[in-house]
Amino acid sequence: MLSPDVAHILPATDTFQEVIPAVLPMFHIYGFTVLSLSTLIIGSKVVTLRKFAPDVYISVLKNYNVTSVIAAPPLVLFLTVHPDVKTEYLQSVRLVISGAAPLGSLDEERFLEKNWTTSSYASRIRSDRDIASGDYIHKKAFEKSSVGKLVPNTFAKIIAVDDPTGTPLGPNQSGELLVKGPQVMRGYHNKPEETKNAFLDGWFRTGDLMHYNEDGLFYVTDRLKELIKVKGFQVAPAELEEAIRDFPSVQDAAVIGIPHPMYGEVPRAYVVPKAKAQLKTEELQKYIANKLAEYKQLKGGVEVVDSIPKNAAGKILRRQLKLQYEARN
Ligand SMILES: *[C@@H]1O[C@H](CO)[C@@H](O)[C@H](O)[C@H]1NC(C)=O
Ligand SMILES: *[C@@H]1O[C@H](CO)[C@@H](O)[C@H](O)[C@H]1NC(C)=O
Ligand SMILES: *[C@@H]1O[C@H](CO)[C@@H](O)[C@H](O)[C@H]1NC(C)=O
Repeated sequence: MLSPDVAHILPATDTFQEVIPAVLPMFHIYGFTVLSLSTLIIGSKVVTLRKFAPDVYISVLKNYNVTSVIAAPPLVLFLTVHPDVKTEYLQSVRLVISGAAPLGSLDEERFLEKNWTTSSYASRIRSDRDIASGDYIHKKAFEKSSVGKLVPNTFAKIIAVDDPTGTPLGPNQSGELLVKGPQVMRGYHNKPEETKNAFLDGWFRTGDLMHYNEDGLFYVTDRLKELIKVKGFQVAPAELEEAIRDFPSVQDAAVIGIPHPMYGEVPRAYVVPKAKAQLKTEELQKYIANKLAEYKQLKGGVEVVDSIPKNAAGKILRRQLKLQYEARN
């Protein structure tokens, strides 16, 4: 059982029961542990939806007095931008958890800026990763854009990418998060090689690129293996995607690295325009060029698409876009 310090979903009492819509797949570790096990054991009402559909989800919000939303970033974006999500449907919501992939701080900001009636948000917790950091780091209310502090009984260190000595870095230095604690798996079932690679001297390698500040607050940049290497610089697709989603006519975006003869790799963007919006890709490129460093620019081009491929938990399938790109070039 979680200590009260860490528990965010509240146990049922005579007068209170959490009501939580369930769209995350229960075969996924986030849907299994956070959405199913940790809620049912304390008597929450979990309203299951066969799959996500905007009208069905909205009807649940309308009819069930939902108290907590356990989401992945696409659902948070949906709640922010969908015109049929009325703020009054979320009046009873006291907690929103977003996990499985990084939720950009701009996206978080936009979500909070939606004119939620009065003080429905007593607290909010955000964990950017489920399998990795989300299990080890707990975010207290209102720690902006950070994923929070370590949970009890857990050790963490940030090490330089591919540093075989595992030397810990100090505050503000970006690297891979390694953790130790009772919640860490012993290894992959019947996969000795993968298990060996997952640990460094007993520390679990999360594969998350992160840093922490002097207050012990942790910040996620992206998954290490998804980083784009431009002229030796590391570019986090999540950072670019967030900047692109800030462009007025963009609904959704995904960024991958494509091979480049001089730079190694360059970022290429896939964008979904907002309904009825005219999206000028050159203007988007200019906008990014004005906002971000030279090596982060969309030199691999911008392609307008109808939708971004995502898995059932809402994670962008960048690998699928890469394969598509390779098949065409
Ligand atoms: C939701 O809350 C409203 C206002 O408190 C109440 O009238 C209604 O019966 C509740 N609905 C359900 C399904 O509990
Ligand atoms: C936000 O909500 C308050 C209280 O319901 C209302 O008075 C105000 O007009 C709303 N603002 C916007 C921009 O919708
Ligand atoms: C880390 O960054 C913060 C905020 O920019 C700054 O105040 C602090 O001095 C930095 N600490 C170190 C050790 O670099």
